[in-house]
Amino acid sequence: MVSLFKSGKPLLGVDIGTSSVKTVQLKPHGKGYDLVHMGIAPLPPEAIVDGAIMDGGAVIGAIQQIFDEHKVTVKDVAVAVSGHSVIIKPIKMPLMKPQELEESIQWEAEQHIPFAIEDVNLDFEILESPPGAVEMDVLLVAVKKDVIGEYLTVASSAGLNVAVVDVDAFAVANAFEAAYEVNPNEVTALLHVGAAVTTITILRGGVLVFTRDSVIGGNRYNESIQKMLGLSYEQAETLKLGGQVDGYTAADSQSAIDLVHAELAGDIRRSIDFFRSASASGVIHRALVSGGVACLPRFIPHLGEALELQIEVANPFRQMKADPKRFDPEYLEHIGPQLAVGVGLALRQRGDR
Ligand SMILES: Nc1ncnc2c1ncn2[C@@H]1O[C@H](COP(=O)(O)OP(=O)(O)OP(=O)(O)O)[C@@H](O)[C@H]1O
Ligand SMILES: [Mg+2]
Repeated sequence: MVSLFKSGKPLLGVDIGTSSVKTVQLKPHGKGYDLVHMGIAPLPPEAIVDGAIMDGGAVIGAIQQIFDEHKVTVKDVAVAVSGHSVIIKPIKMPLMKPQELEESIQWEAEQHIPFAIEDVNLDFEILESPPGAVEMDVLLVAVKKDVIGEYLTVASSAGLNVAVVDVDAFAVANAFEAAYEVNPNEVTALLHVGAAVTTITILRGGVLVFTRDSVIGGNRYNESIQKMLGLSYEQAETLKLGGQVDGYTAADSQSAIDLVHAELAGDIRRSIDFFRSASASGVIHRALVSGGVACLPRFIPHLGEALELQIEVANPFRQMKADPKRFDPEYLEHIGPQLAVGVGLALRQRGDR
């Protein structure tokens, strides 16, 4: 799939998210993979805002914490960017050869992205068109260079060498492909709900045909709890995770949580409806949820009802071998959804795909 830089070396997946840094290392084993390492270290609020690194020191500290704790020695990494600096858009182009497309995409991209062309790194993927089509469908990917630059600077200060820059939506799609059987005509919705962003991605077969972000994620629950009960962000987080604070129990935050369940499900529904109306059959065969919020009680049933779909929680490790002496199987299943981007990035060790 699309990547902005390419390398053939085995890589450590480093997912720099709004709430934490998450790392995954895999080793090819037969047709599958072994889990070699996974790590997670929290970030303070405001270290990452809308996918941009605001507090590089905090990110470097979190990376170093994981490296020290797990004695990681890999230096070549894959990272992902997300947020407003990333544009992923299916566009129509006249039929032409891939090499010609390479040349004309620059001109074409200008009309489709809200940034100056010299300020972005561009990539594209030719999508399958129906037989007899007079135009071709191309997936355009543009990422602002200054945001990529911030990631490169932080990685290099942490002693790492960035070999691949990917985007969250593609990493989640790659993790899904490695973990689940993908039938060529099956339409799958991947709903990755992080702290700040929800990435809604639709694949036909293994190919990304639609992706959109919602700015509602796990943090919105905290805001809702904070407002309703007059608590701090950290206190709200404790209640959200089922704990107690200042005489309040998790039950006291339920109505604030339910409000956001409805808001988030409504936002995802709007994207799904848009896809359904724009695609020929509109059918979605399967929907999987990943990201930290997948663990939030009542979220999955709420979402299933709102989307009129059967929702599964994604487990990117389901086909992988993990030594039970090193990785508690129950913990792995619990944390798996949150590591979807990290797994997708660690898979980039196969290089060009
Ligand atoms: N067990 C849990 N129950 C409820 N919420 C959880 C749980 N574990 C994590 N979360 C929430 O999930 C969110 C973090 O998810 P994730 O790690 O996928 O996001 P991120 O990658 O840091 O952020 P983003 O991708 O939006 O930049 C936080 O809002 C956190 O409170
Ligand atoms: Mg994330």
